[in-house]
Amino acid sequence: MGARTYRLSASGLTVLRPRFGRRVAAIATVGVIIAAVTAACAPTPVAPPPDCIEAVCPLASAARARNVYAGAAVKANLLASNPAFADTVKRHFTSVTPENELKWSVLRPTPTEWNWAPADSVLEFAEANNLAVRGHTLAWVNESGDQNGLPQWLRGVTDPTAFRSYVLDGVAEVVGRYRGRINRWDVVNEAFVYYDTQIAPSVYDRMGPDYIAELFEAAHAADPDASLWLNEVFTELFPAKANAIVDLVASLRERGVPIHGVGLQTHLTLTPVAPASGSISGLMSRLRDLGVQVAITELDIPLGPARSEQAQVDTYRQVVTECLLAGCSEVTTWGVNDTYTTLDSPGQRQNNPFLSTFFSLPSKPLLFDTAFAPKAAYLAVVEAMERTPQVP
Ligand code: XIL
Repeated sequence: MGARTYRLSASGLTVLRPRFGRRVAAIATVGVIIAAVTAACAPTPVAPPPDCIEAVCPLASAARARNVYAGAAVKANLLASNPAFADTVKRHFTSVTPENELKWSVLRPTPTEWNWAPADSVLEFAEANNLAVRGHTLAWVNESGDQNGLPQWLRGVTDPTAFRSYVLDGVAEVVGRYRGRINRWDVVNEAFVYYDTQIAPSVYDRMGPDYIAELFEAAHAADPDASLWLNEVFTELFPAKANAIVDLVASLRERGVPIHGVGLQTHLTLTPVAPASGSISGLMSRLRDLGVQVAITELDIPLGPARSEQAQVDTYRQVVTECLLAGCSEVTTWGVNDTYTTLDSPGQRQNNPFLSTFFSLPSKPLLFDTAFAPKAAYLAVVEAMERTPQVP
């Protein structure tokens, strides 16, 4: 690893490899000429042939080589309706996170109804293409106002006993259904106040002060082999929040609560300034010292006021390098290409005033452009995957 280099041009990505002391342009173009490589990378029920991964799919190849996931959040309807979207996911990633399909608002439209079809279809796609699945999410605590966490009917259940039963029985149902197929779960998502150190006030308070532990216990009972995660947002700018997360995880571990990982969402949407050097690796290292895994779970880096693609590339490189230096197990981006980023949706822009302040439309925060061509940021992530030293 490390000897290979890549060049981005208008026609796509060229892989340059040293061979017999010389650099030989090995192959190939991705993205804009997807059709041309379809034969080499045809969808099959097993992993694509190694040559294909290595030359045309360097991100997936580099991720597999160092035993981390390169993931993307995906939407069931885009996988089904947009072949370029589906092909890009198959070729360049090793894991998918259903973006909304496992959230209660989608899964449980009424107290008596389960809507499994969207999540099932993402899982079928993943299994047909040898991709792992990150389950997101069993409890979205600090709901961002767009009602995507819990359906209205469940918010209306104010009796604590009834509320607890719905939530814990639901966890058993969902995790049990996908037992053995979803290997890791964001059990609790955004437990903390966005920009502070307290647990966010929420409807989950109806379950009492120990609801976080209860959710982890319930998930563990439903699938003892699944890896169970806390997933948190905006840790990069707030050292006090990072400390609070470390304290919470330490206390859960001390009590024997089955928590196995902490995901840092890493939506870099609060300021166009890159995170302070070491803020990601520092928090990750402290968490690893507590015996849990760490990952970047929802990465997106919008273009700032200067619209500098280079700044975006540098920040992608920094974030992924810090993650790998701290021994993380995954880098997942929140989406695949710039067309479908959630950061440009009116709901997100309303919820997060910083988005509208600093990041004009289109924010172009992902690794592939609107034509599904890999961007320079993609290259930076591949290089970080290939060049960052392995840690134990
Ligand atoms: C977002 C989705 O991307 C949107 O499609 C949806 O309307 C709202 O939720 N943090 C999270 C994700 O943990 O679940 C959110 O996903 C983005 C912020």
